[in-house]
Amino acid sequence: LFWDKINKESKTKGGDRLNIGIILAAGEGKRMKSRHPKVLHKICGKPMISYVLEEATNANIEKKVVVVGHKKEELIAYLKETDSIIKEQPTGTNDPYGTAFAVMQAIDEVEDNDNVIILCADTPLITSLSLRNLIEYHKNTNSIATVLTTILEDPTGYGRIIRKSNGDLLKIVEQKDASEDERKVNEINSGIYCFNGKALKDSIKKIDNNNVQNEYYLTDAIEILNSLGLRVSAYKIDDFEEIIGVNSREQLAYASKIMQKRINRYHLDNGVTIVDPDSTYIEPNVSIGYDTIIFPGAEIERGSRIGENCIIRGITRISNSIIGDNCEIESTLIESSIVGNNCHIGPFAHLRPNCRLEDNVKIGNFVEIKNSSIGENSKAAHLSYVGDAEVGKNVNIGCGVVFVNYDGKNKYRSIVKDNAFIGSNSNLVAPVIVEEYGYIAAGSTITENVNEGDLSIARARQVNIQGWVKKKGLIKHK
Ligand code: UD1
Ligand code: CA
Repeated sequence: LFWDKINKESKTKGGDRLNIGIILAAGEGKRMKSRHPKVLHKICGKPMISYVLEEATNANIEKKVVVVGHKKEELIAYLKETDSIIKEQPTGTNDPYGTAFAVMQAIDEVEDNDNVIILCADTPLITSLSLRNLIEYHKNTNSIATVLTTILEDPTGYGRIIRKSNGDLLKIVEQKDASEDERKVNEINSGIYCFNGKALKDSIKKIDNNNVQNEYYLTDAIEILNSLGLRVSAYKIDDFEEIIGVNSREQLAYASKIMQKRINRYHLDNGVTIVDPDSTYIEPNVSIGYDTIIFPGAEIERGSRIGENCIIRGITRISNSIIGDNCEIESTLIESSIVGNNCHIGPFAHLRPNCRLEDNVKIGNFVEIKNSSIGENSKAAHLSYVGDAEVGKNVNIGCGVVFVNYDGKNKYRSIVKDNAFIGSNSNLVAPVIVEEYGYIAAGSTITENVNEGDLSIARARQVNIQGWVKKKGLIKHK
């Protein structure tokens, strides 16, 4: 028998059959009510499908074939940046539909001896550990097909796992085709399977669409293989959260919550205090050092790295940025920037892309900085705009200082060297250089360079006109 032969072969070869993943992503995703493909909807900032692809890779599934169909253009553009093979499922109104038809589109990629792992791109919480365990179980039980299952308190909508009286797997029945008794079964089909390549190829040809939805159900392969007397099994996992399918916005929110909980738990385990994990949003691939404390309202995204012993408070978003140790950041937006150690930022500051703050910098209330570097121990404590500037060490930027970097056509850079002092409410009209220890009087509009150690005053001299108000008859009650 062919099956005996491959089982023997796989044993003698140490079971080193190739793992190939077929990832189904051609469905309509109707219930999402979206113009975009369902599987590109994001969970914690990352498209659903990318979680599935990554976990597959981590489970040693190196060859990944994605079946696309509905709204495929956007999905194909995305997948071209990944290492997956793309197969298209026809989606005309008269074309067949269903998970078996989807798998059919990828079947040419399957060799008889492969372990074929079927994944759904809309089941983003599956972990590589469970996939590895599924493959192991499949091998150890010498099964021809193994389905990953779990128990759900409310199994509504999922395919039900129907077992024989001895507990062996018999078949999978879809909710819509299930009898009343079958609907009572709490063990559900995850939509994730491991098939022997040849078994999959042979059984899929026999699947028909005689069911309530007139779809070609991949789940029927189980009953078909069973009836051929081949060994099919169910591998049940306890963590039902891994199997949550996303078909609606509500399920998307639910899956996002679970992912957020997982990510936050990872940081908690790594010595980060998250005061309220339910209201803290951290994307995957973010790193945070020991003893950093994160208060509610923080959003840390796009691979940001936060150092040790920082405090992050208020509605703060840190995106694609690096923050050093011992920083305090309050109600602030930081984008694509680098912050040194011991910095104090906020409340209500905004670091726009391409800023670099050295150590001990203080950026205070309502300060906006863009494409600028600020040297050690420098301060801009209140109400300033610093754009396209190079600011040295120990510089004090007074309240309300504006770096006037734009003349309506072009942008220019300014340089402020170490130990300079920029008085409050001054304008530095770029391009301009303030040399070391250059002092600028409050209220100046600086258009020329300031030499080292000079004081620069650039405002009209004050004139006091004696008795002017009285002369004008403006004093009423004296
Ligand atoms: C499917 C399973 C069900 C299981 C559930 C787990 C079948 C018949 N049912 O149901 O037993 O409990 O997943 O989440 O397999 N797809 C295609 N092409 C198609 C149809 C679907 O690629 O023609 C893709 C979808 O994009 C999706 C996946 O297959 O990624 C599952 O399809 P979906 O329609 O969501 O199946 P469910 O009804 O959830
Ligand atoms: Ca689904």
